[in-house]
Amino acid sequence: MSRIFSGIQPSGELHIGNYLGAVQNWVRLQEGRDATFFCVVDLHALTGNYEPSDLRRRRHEMAVSLLAAGLDPERCTLFFQSGVPQHAELAWIFNTVTPLGELERQTQYKDKSARQESVLTGVLTYPVLQAADILLYHATRVPVGEDQVQHLELSREIARRWNHRFAAETPYFPEPQPLLTPVRRLMGLDGQAKMSKSLGNTIGLLETREQIWEKLRPAMTDPARIRRTDPGNPDVCNIYSLHKAFSDEPTQAIAAANCRGAAWGCIDCKKVLAESMETVLVPIRRRAADIGARPSYVTDVLEEGAKRARTIAQDTMRQVYERMGLTD
Ligand code: TRP
Repeated sequence: MSRIFSGIQPSGELHIGNYLGAVQNWVRLQEGRDATFFCVVDLHALTGNYEPSDLRRRRHEMAVSLLAAGLDPERCTLFFQSGVPQHAELAWIFNTVTPLGELERQTQYKDKSARQESVLTGVLTYPVLQAADILLYHATRVPVGEDQVQHLELSREIARRWNHRFAAETPYFPEPQPLLTPVRRLMGLDGQAKMSKSLGNTIGLLETREQIWEKLRPAMTDPARIRRTDPGNPDVCNIYSLHKAFSDEPTQAIAAANCRGAAWGCIDCKKVLAESMETVLVPIRRRAADIGARPSYVTDVLEEGAKRARTIAQDTMRQVYERMGLTD
């Protein structure tokens, strides 16, 4: 049996973009044969400016979202990174085998540091902690988006270097491979940029039907449809891309035909989309409400997950210390 690991930033409530791009796939993966580990990476979240009270809220909301989205503690190990101290411990160990140049070459580091005068060391060593996340569990497959491929490459390099130095005969750490999520990159409702919380162009996974409609109604569609009688092109319409994510195939086909033939106005099309979204989101909202009604549920479930994770992590650290001369 092999292991799958992935992490997500504690960014608060999931939006439909993260849900469709990552978490929906995690929910599918937990049904498979491999053991799955999903981690809210709260230690990674310290590398920027943040308010402690804000982080406390965001990590909780992320945990609620993940459970509401369908991660099932009976089928996967779900936990907060900070609940398993071995993540930070192994990251230190990996710092000692990671060349500075490799870190300085990471695009994410270059992007982030270019925008700042003073750069925190944590921004530089971020991918070392990420390698520790994965390798603590000997995970071989890591569901991520395109933007994490370089970090994964570095995780493999770190595994190789550590193995070469401390486990030359039989490699101890595996080389984890990205499992590229078939991402439907959702554009934001403004139709201008990728859906992202910081741009405020998202729909939250737990928003109500009314809140969603408030956002859909004015959302950007094919700019060629100025009048209702103007035929449209679904392939350039953002609302149609949401149909592809939320509507069943017959509904998608009807929406496309009625857009091309100008049989529907954009508002008609949005109303049908809102119905399709309800079908997907109602059970998610219901789970969130159930969770909200049980005050210590989230804490208990994630602590249970951390406990399971710690058992494995402790064993890994024992082996690591043994091979590195840190035991008697
Ligand atoms: N860096 C990832 C992101 O920003 C989050 C992450 C942290 C992660 N540790 C991980 C993803 C380990 C996969 C595996 O999305």
